[in-house]
Amino acid sequence: MTWRVRAAVPADAEAIAQVHWDSWVATYTGVFPPASFDGFPLAARRELWHREASNSAPGRCLMVAVADLPVDDVPVLGFACLGPYRTQAHEPADQGAGEGELMALYLRPGQFRRGIGRGLWQAVLDAARRFGYPALRLWVIAGNPAERFYAAMGATPVGHNVFEAHGTPVREHCCRIDLSTA
Ligand SMILES: CC(C)(COP(=O)(O)OP(=O)(O)OC[C@H]1O[C@@H](n2cnc3c(N)ncnc32)[C@H](O)[C@@H]1OP(=O)(O)O)[C@@H](O)C(=O)NCCC(=O)NCCS
Repeated sequence: MTWRVRAAVPADAEAIAQVHWDSWVATYTGVFPPASFDGFPLAARRELWHREASNSAPGRCLMVAVADLPVDDVPVLGFACLGPYRTQAHEPADQGAGEGELMALYLRPGQFRRGIGRGLWQAVLDAARRFGYPALRLWVIAGNPAERFYAAMGATPVGHNVFEAHGTPVREHCCRIDLSTA
């Protein structure tokens, strides 16, 4: 299968939301309690990604990996979202100031380990450099196989946090990559 990465357009929002939902179910069932899924339904994801696909604020972009031949009638295989780092409540106020954040990176289940994540990651890094971010941060749930993906991409753990998802404690790690050397 051949595919390419391009900037998302508002017409992609529906497919992106579906990928987000399906990938969440595949990845976080048993990690997040069912109420977390109820609290972030497909309709809310559609709105979120429609808004983000139309967001032309500086330092932000939403990208999709699309198959040249649609799979099950849907060309979108995965997506990634980049923006300015959102300093967490538990962090010092200037943590990650001026840096970028990989806010989301999700592939359709069934499309893992084919290099699509790497392709989106590379596109995010290129965009982050264009925007002038000196580094990129991201948060990943502890134990998610994605930790090994980010390690393979050269991002290293720099912090951690534990938050409550509807009464369930969930540990997450912050990883960072310096874009002057990567
Ligand atoms: C994480 C994710 C984006 C990675 O994308 P991918 O296309 O599956 O990964 P790639 O094929 O590009 O892998 C690149 C390298 O990362 C490493 N890697 C990727 N997935 C891995 C895994 N499950 N276990 C160990 N190493 C892994 C490998 O070194 C791999 O190189 P190789 O295949 O030559 O060995 C994808 O698996 C995904 O969408 N997962 C579900 C959603 C998710 O957890 N998103 C991250 C939220 S923070």
